[in-house]
Amino acid sequence: MTRTLIVTGGAGFIGSNFLHMLAELRPQWRTVNLDALTYAGNLENLTALEGREGYTFVHGDVSRSEDVERAFEAAGDDLPVSVVHFAAESHVDRSIRSGVPFVQANMLGTQVLLDVCRARGVERFVHVSTDEVYGSLGPEGFFTEKTPLQPSSPYSASKAGSDLLVAAAHHTHGFPALITRCSNNYGPYQFPEKLIPLMIANARENRPLPVYGDGMQVRDWLYVRDHCEAILTVLERGECGRVYNIGGHNEFPNLEIVRRILAHLGKPESLIEFVADRPGHDRRYAIDAGRIERELGWTPRYTFEEALPLTIDWYLAQDEWLQRVRSGAYQSYYQSQYGA
Ligand code: NAD
Ligand code: TYD
Repeated sequence: MTRTLIVTGGAGFIGSNFLHMLAELRPQWRTVNLDALTYAGNLENLTALEGREGYTFVHGDVSRSEDVERAFEAAGDDLPVSVVHFAAESHVDRSIRSGVPFVQANMLGTQVLLDVCRARGVERFVHVSTDEVYGSLGPEGFFTEKTPLQPSSPYSASKAGSDLLVAAAHHTHGFPALITRCSNNYGPYQFPEKLIPLMIANARENRPLPVYGDGMQVRDWLYVRDHCEAILTVLERGECGRVYNIGGHNEFPNLEIVRRILAHLGKPESLIEFVADRPGHDRRYAIDAGRIERELGWTPRYTFEEALPLTIDWYLAQDEWLQRVRSGAYQSYYQSQYGA
């Protein structure tokens, strides 16, 4: 079936991977990318889509209804419109320094977007959330969709707030929303403030690799392509009002990740530098993805052994992309490409 999809936050890490995947798997769909181009939004992630028929970029903020309306105008009204909502402030460490942008983008932004989408009568709305809304696990057990929300950081609290707003829109107004909660992603185009791309970038320049605390915090890593395929599955086949956990069955302590990156790059472990722990640092995340596997037939296709080397090699091959992101030069791209 042909449809129009508004993707919010499409210039970020997961959103750009999702748009690339759609161009490949659903080439007949029309896509509108609504993105505010914060520090994390990089149109250079999407140069391959520029000029492509059926793809439109709209520079706008999901917390401003007039910007969301512009995305709908770009979408047109000849086809059903669905929305996949990625746009968010996404980095825990930044939220610890200042929570206000997180409440603004993640909570206010989601509510404004929901209101416009409801008035416009969208077909389906997928809210992309995180396993971090469940808080931290001890050494055993997994997050299921029934695990109570117990977020620890301002980031995860603002995401939990956005999940509740989406659930309330469904409960109160019968709004056709679905929620996905995913574990940590890795892969191409991730902003090098997150663990894996930061460690790759530092290691290749022989700079210290800052590991928080004892480095034994556990994350459940999922290759971004697997996440994008799961979101497409939920968009097309999920049941409205339902939450779907998405995970890779792939738990590793941070220190092990850092060691594997160093080994792949042939760099010494002496580059590892243990630094002060993150305040309120969640100890362990692990996802039970049984529901999406049983009900929708999605399972991850990539193993960590395959996809971590792929990811490292991608960053090595995209040296120019990495340098431009790290220097801030990527931010002038919009200006030169689109003018004002
Ligand atoms: P990202 O930080 O790389 O990208 C976020 C994008 O949203 C950027 O392009 C930014 O410009 C845009 N944006 C931010 N505020 C906006 C606003 N007010 N209006 C319009 N656009 C705005 O994030 P990501 O890692 O791609 O994450 C995408 C989504 O997935 C987020 O909602 C995040 O909470 C969720 N998530 C991420 C992970 C992960 O491991 N990265 C895991 C689970 C869930
Ligand atoms: P991050 O990529 O920021 O994702 P999240 O906090 O959303 O899980 O961090 C992943 C893990 O890596 C987390 O336990 C914090 C740790 N970490 C470090 O040890 N050093 C770093 O420099 C960063 C950015 C993260």
